[in-house]
Amino acid sequence: MAEPLTIDDLKRMARRRVPKMFFDYADSGSWTEGTYRANEADFADIKLRQRVLVDMTNRSLKSTMLGEEVAMPVALAPTGLTGMQHADGEMLAAQAAEEFGVPFTLSTMSICSIEDVASVTKKPFWFQLYVMRDRGFVESLIERAKAANCSALVLTLDLQILGQRHKDLRNGLSAPPKFTAKHIWQMATRPAWCMGMLGTKRHTFRNIAGHVKGVGDLSSLSSWTADQFDPQLSWDDVEWIRQRWGGKLILKGILDREDAELATRTGADALIVSNHGGRQLDGAPSSISMLEDIANAVGDRIEVFMDGGVRSGQDVLKALCLGAKGVFIGRPFLYGLGAQGKKGVTATLNIIAKELDTTMALCGRRDIKDVGKDMLHRG
Ligand SMILES: Cc1cc2nc3c(=O)[nH]c(=O)nc-3n(C[C@H](O)[C@H](O)[C@H](O)COP(=O)(O)O)c2cc1C
Repeated sequence: MAEPLTIDDLKRMARRRVPKMFFDYADSGSWTEGTYRANEADFADIKLRQRVLVDMTNRSLKSTMLGEEVAMPVALAPTGLTGMQHADGEMLAAQAAEEFGVPFTLSTMSICSIEDVASVTKKPFWFQLYVMRDRGFVESLIERAKAANCSALVLTLDLQILGQRHKDLRNGLSAPPKFTAKHIWQMATRPAWCMGMLGTKRHTFRNIAGHVKGVGDLSSLSSWTADQFDPQLSWDDVEWIRQRWGGKLILKGILDREDAELATRTGADALIVSNHGGRQLDGAPSSISMLEDIANAVGDRIEVFMDGGVRSGQDVLKALCLGAKGVFIGRPFLYGLGAQGKKGVTATLNIIAKELDTTMALCGRRDIKDVGKDMLHRG
């Protein structure tokens, strides 16, 4: 098979390797998927200024995110069920990110646990927290993240209730999985994926299973989880979590200037301009279209990151020019992982880095820390 040259190549390869229900779980947005599409499409409307006869030697993509040195300002976003794109997916992606020199964020709803990922990495990773009604469990998750030496907590704010993705319902994606003829067929036609899954014991939500009283098997786990997202989550809870965590805190899911203002008052270190990859409020604007307004509103009171629709190094550059200190990628690394495991996540990062470097140079800059709005054509 030819080497992947673009994120789209990796997506095509993942589609052939990952069973349909799990591929679709990644490649879907809520309801009409309008916001999901806009996240990608709106990047294409932003045009770059081509500059010539500028010294392009000695370029650098090195930067910092939350004070941590990064090989380029791109982090892996927290994604649930990553270990279903590829056996032991979270552990492999975390290793690829560590070797490349970018942050990896582990989701609360991961297959591999905090401890699993800690056991195969040397540097600290970031942990994403969903606030469950069971605050005792939330406290224990925070303690486990501290014990694993996680260096930032990413608190997700935009999932108090679940958006609906039609594909997941139509595919019958559920926990516990239903083993109907359709599902067995989907898996049987993906033998390499099946072999991987047979070779690991990690098939369930290992941050939760065995850590909550009365939740042991998959069936009790699914009813517990469905009931646990807290619709009453408030700004006061953010303070409660900030105090318990005591380390670097990132607020994820800010898409509105007023919420951005409130976020600055929490004492959090960073916010992520995000609509959850178009998986929650369909009809919301794309992340990239809201970034500049939010970055202007908060100034340097809080570090600003963004995610949603980044599919190339060019997209990363555009987001940085519009005020992001760093970006997160979700689906791009999931496609890499589904396509080729750890090697595919490394390919994702290499593709993005190369595109970012070349684009920066052709726009006449040598240091990623020097990019700005003056590199864009403003309509
Ligand atoms: C399959 C999938 C699962 C996700 N699960 C989570 C999650 O568990 N926690 C969370 O905060 N965000 C989750 N997200 C949202 C991502 O963190 C991120 O906001 C989004 O993927 C960015 O958009 P992109 O996929 O276009 O890069 C998920 C996204 C995808 C695609």
